[in-house]
Amino acid sequence: RSITAFAPATVANVSCGFDILGFAIDGMGDKVTVSFNEQKKLCVTGITGDGGKLPLEVEKNTCSVAIQALLDQMGTPIGIDIYLEKGLALGSGMGSSAASAAAALVATNTLLGNPFTKEELVPFAMEAERIACGSAHADNVAPSILGGFVLIRGYEPLDIVKLPVPKGIYCTLVHPHIELKTSDSRSVLRKQISLKESTVQSGNIAGFIAGLYTNDFGLISRSLKDVIAEPSRALLIPGFYELRDAIKSIGALGSGISGSGPTIFVLSPNGEIALEAGEKAKDVFHKIGLGADVY
Ligand code: HSE
Repeated sequence: RSITAFAPATVANVSCGFDILGFAIDGMGDKVTVSFNEQKKLCVTGITGDGGKLPLEVEKNTCSVAIQALLDQMGTPIGIDIYLEKGLALGSGMGSSAASAAAALVATNTLLGNPFTKEELVPFAMEAERIACGSAHADNVAPSILGGFVLIRGYEPLDIVKLPVPKGIYCTLVHPHIELKTSDSRSVLRKQISLKESTVQSGNIAGFIAGLYTNDFGLISRSLKDVIAEPSRALLIPGFYELRDAIKSIGALGSGISGSGPTIFVLSPNGEIALEAGEKAKDVFHKIGLGADVY
């Protein structure tokens, strides 16, 4: 018997929630198929869609690292074959490594008869993030496993809060053709922020979450700001500020860096504006002579 699970792309940080806020994207993602093997150990049997870039070694692959963390918790030696079908580009900022780990865990949990709740799978996926980029953040893995908007209220201990998804909200993703490693985009971050910056960021995250609960698009729009990571990271993403300016006039709610970039997300109050944001993005990247995919 084999089990296949799909896990979606995610937008982490969402501007105001560095390392603590993320949401899942409808439609795009990775698929993992798992089945028992006789060898009593994990084996990554194959990967498609990665251009040969991802490791098959079980200590390095995010699927097997996540599954190993789950099996360690259960304490029983079980052999599992893992087959990964990548739908997401690597190093894109769309939670690619997280989606692989999330799909691997959901498939394995189902194969084993669901010994864990979905919330309980999150720490296992965080171990995969640690291997992928050196930091065990949960703002991609939690929404990839749970869906919707998710807040990581705290890391020690882990405290995950599912948030409402406002009716009619749309996200456009713009993926410029450059690759940014999360470890590199984390290395440019400042280690300290000022009291004033902390106040501004806290106001925005609180406002954003209040906006989700009250379906208040104006409040969501005013709160989509980041004074912590974006000032350092936007410099690594050509077209970032040009796109922000271009979507101002069409009624989009705002834009920001998706996770650690280079993908840029645009939130819109309806599907028409989301499509128009995509057209604006194509113009912007055409003008600066850089290829970009728009989803
Ligand atoms: N919160 C993480 C970061 C997300 O910004 O580095 C990485 O995708």
